[in-house]
Amino acid sequence: MIEFILNNELINTDLPSGSILLDFIRSEEKLTGTKIGCREGDCGACTVLVGSINKDGSIDYKSVTSCLTPIASIHGKHVVTVEGLNIPNQLSTIQSIFKENNATQCGFCTPGFIVSLTGYSFNSETSILGILDSVSGNICRCTGYKSIEKAGIEISGVLIDNNTNGNISNLIRNKFIPEYFADIPKRLQELGNRKQIINKGIIVGGGTDIYVTDADNIQNTEINLIGYNNDFSKIRIENDICTIGAGITPSDILNTKELFIYFPELVSFFKLISSKQIRNMGTLGGNIVNASPIADLSIFFLALKSNLTISDKNGRARLVLLRDFFKSYKNIDLQDGEIILNLSFKLPEKNQHFNFEKVSKRTHLDIASVNSAFCISISNNNKITDISISAGGVAPIPLLLKNTCAFLKGKVLSSENIRKAHCVLKEEISPISDIRGSEEYKRLLLRQLYYGHFIKLFPEIISISDIK
Ligand SMILES: Cc1cc2nc3c(=O)[nH]c(=O)nc-3n(C[C@H](O)[C@H](O)[C@H](O)COP(=O)(O)OP(=O)(O)OC[C@H]3O[C@@H](n4cnc5c(N)ncnc54)[C@H](O)[C@@H]3O)c2cc1C
Ligand code: FES
Ligand code: FES
Repeated sequence: MIEFILNNELINTDLPSGSILLDFIRSEEKLTGTKIGCREGDCGACTVLVGSINKDGSIDYKSVTSCLTPIASIHGKHVVTVEGLNIPNQLSTIQSIFKENNATQCGFCTPGFIVSLTGYSFNSETSILGILDSVSGNICRCTGYKSIEKAGIEISGVLIDNNTNGNISNLIRNKFIPEYFADIPKRLQELGNRKQIINKGIIVGGGTDIYVTDADNIQNTEINLIGYNNDFSKIRIENDICTIGAGITPSDILNTKELFIYFPELVSFFKLISSKQIRNMGTLGGNIVNASPIADLSIFFLALKSNLTISDKNGRARLVLLRDFFKSYKNIDLQDGEIILNLSFKLPEKNQHFNFEKVSKRTHLDIASVNSAFCISISNNNKITDISISAGGVAPIPLLLKNTCAFLKGKVLSSENIRKAHCVLKEEISPISDIRGSEEYKRLLLRQLYYGHFIKLFPEIISISDIK
């Protein structure tokens, strides 16, 4: 049985664990404020908050698209729909700022925006960029966004002026959330002591791929939700090795402050991946197993020479280099009954430089046309001692540019060698024309990203004028 708190009400349900949260909310509970738009995670109209209790009794709220959320993933948690944000006899602070800024017209998208913005108010830090990012997965067809942006900026001002710091009592006092939220941590702790659900059936990470491609087949079945298992949900840094559980999401990675020492630009890299809601849901394991040639996390971790630990159904583990995992289009080194446990890589050293670039049709909430990651080590005498470049969208698999890297390794870092290596690169890619662009366009994009890595990291060695 799956148990959770929906707004202020305790829910028990015997529905199959693969059932979709959006359908439960609207059809079973008749809470129709949560809207159905695309059912593919793209529009944000179905956004709800999911609150999970931490060991110290605090609670974390995340926005998710309920159309891709299996009901198993909310067992023991607090689900908040737009109805659960209502304050008796008055608008909440966010609702009234929205109204005053004329940030709603037909109103279809509004519940999603209100829920996403309320989710942001639980952050301990507030910034204008942060609040705008919180609605990166919400689409509005009427307002042109300016009024929504104005409302968002005003909301961030109220949060800052009142020092809310994501604290539940402060948010209640400032009418961001209703009073019943105060008791939720205690109620969730009580729920936590009850029976765990049994995981069986098809493996699901966050569901953001499989519920787009296969919802009809899994929504009435039991699922094996691996992210629910604690072993999959940890990031460990030990002796310069970082190990990331397969159930970790891009948001979890962004919340791991220690990683910023090694990747100072992590926020700008990861903001290019999907939307706030999808970053809160999609897992590393799902991104790799999906084996899309443009999967951002696969490309990011390929350049870091990552290993995968894979376990069979008897718990026997084996190690595979990520670069050898992708065999041909959507054909991977994973046998029936095997699962990815984690990914590990050596953290960049002081003489190593890392960069990630992505070009997509839209800046936010879009998959890449071409993406690329880059990791290079330079010796004191300016020689390339090691280099690893990955590229997505230019081959049937997420590609490591082995020949280009072999050509550059051991050579002096000079604009001439960088240009010569580009001739090697052109020979080892095989982009095809598709909806994301023609073959020629993708070749051009990768050329720009390839040079872009060097120009950004070594402007004293190569500049735009050198590559015209
Ligand atoms: C709106 C939207 C925008 C997106 N934007 C991007 C984007 O910008 N960049 C990008 O790279 N992707 C994007 N995606 C794709 C998706 O979010 C990612 O690929 C995500 O990481 C998939 O992870 P998941 O846990 O949700 O996968 P799931 O759907 O849960 O699983 C995918 C597959 O992997 C299998 N699986 C999952 N975990 C494991 C494991 N540990 N071991 C073995 N098998 C496993 C499942 O059985 C399933 O076959 C987007 C998706 C949506 C809906
Ligand atoms: S209905 Fe569009 S994101 Fe869920
Ligand atoms: S107000 Fe109509 S879609 Fe946003």
